[in-house]
Amino acid sequence: MKFTFVTLFQNIVEGYFQDSILKRAIQKEILHVAYINPRDYSSSKHNKVDDSAVGGGAGMVMNPQPLFDTLNELKVKDKDVHVIFLTPVAKPFKQNDAKRLANKPHIAFVSGRYEGIDERVIEKYADEVFSIGDYILTGGELASLVICDAISRNVDGVLGNSDSLSVESFETQLLEAPSFSKPENYENNSVPSEYLKGNHSKIRSLKLALSECKTKFFRPEQLLKHRTRKSYEK
Ligand code: ADE
Repeated sequence: MKFTFVTLFQNIVEGYFQDSILKRAIQKEILHVAYINPRDYSSSKHNKVDDSAVGGGAGMVMNPQPLFDTLNELKVKDKDVHVIFLTPVAKPFKQNDAKRLANKPHIAFVSGRYEGIDERVIEKYADEVFSIGDYILTGGELASLVICDAISRNVDGVLGNSDSLSVESFETQLLEAPSFSKPENYENNSVPSEYLKGNHSKIRSLKLALSECKTKFFRPEQLLKHRTRKSYEK
C-alpha cells in the first residue's frame, strides 16, 4: 500500500516512519511512503503558496494554483489515488474508516497550513475530508500521521500478531479491558487475582465487566450504544 503526503513540511512527517512498526513495514515493502511539496509546483516568482483571505478574515490561505498542479499530476500518474484532506471542518475519523481505507492501494494526504486551503481545491480533488478531533492544530500533518498510522495497522502483515486486531477498543462499542504485564505483584499491588487463575471463561467475564466499567466512566454514550445493540441482537 502506498501513502503520499502532500505537505509543505516533509520533515515533520518523515520522522514518524523511522522507527518501530511502520519502519519495519516499509523495510518489508508492505508500505511505501512518498512526499510532494506543493511549493515545488508554485508558478509565482518566489514560490509563494499562500495569500490573504479574499473577503477578509485573519491569516493566510493556501493558494489554489500550487495544489491544483500538484494534485493534477498525482492523478495523472495514478488515476485511482484516494485523496484525503485534513481539516477541522470535516467528519470525524473513526476506527471503521481505518479498516475500510486499509483496502485502498494508494492514499494521498493533503495537509493545510496557515488558516487552511482554498475551498476550490477541496471541492475539485477531495475523495474524503477528515478531522481528528474538536481542536485546531497548526497544520494537517499530525492529523495525516494519526490517520495513516491507524490505517496501516489494519493492512495485512503490518502488525506482527494479527490477533491483536481482533479484540480492540472500537472493534465493539466497548473500550478494552485493562492489561497487565509481569511481575504479577508490583510494589504491593497485584494484578486482579482472576487473571492469574487460568480459568479462561472467568477471565473473559471479568474482562467484559471491566470493559463495561471503563466505558461507563470514560464514554457513557458508547455503553448506551453497546446495550442498545445487545438488546436488538436478542
Ligand atoms: N488541521 C488542523 N486541525 C485539524 C484537526 N483537528 N483535524 C484534522 N486536520 C486539522
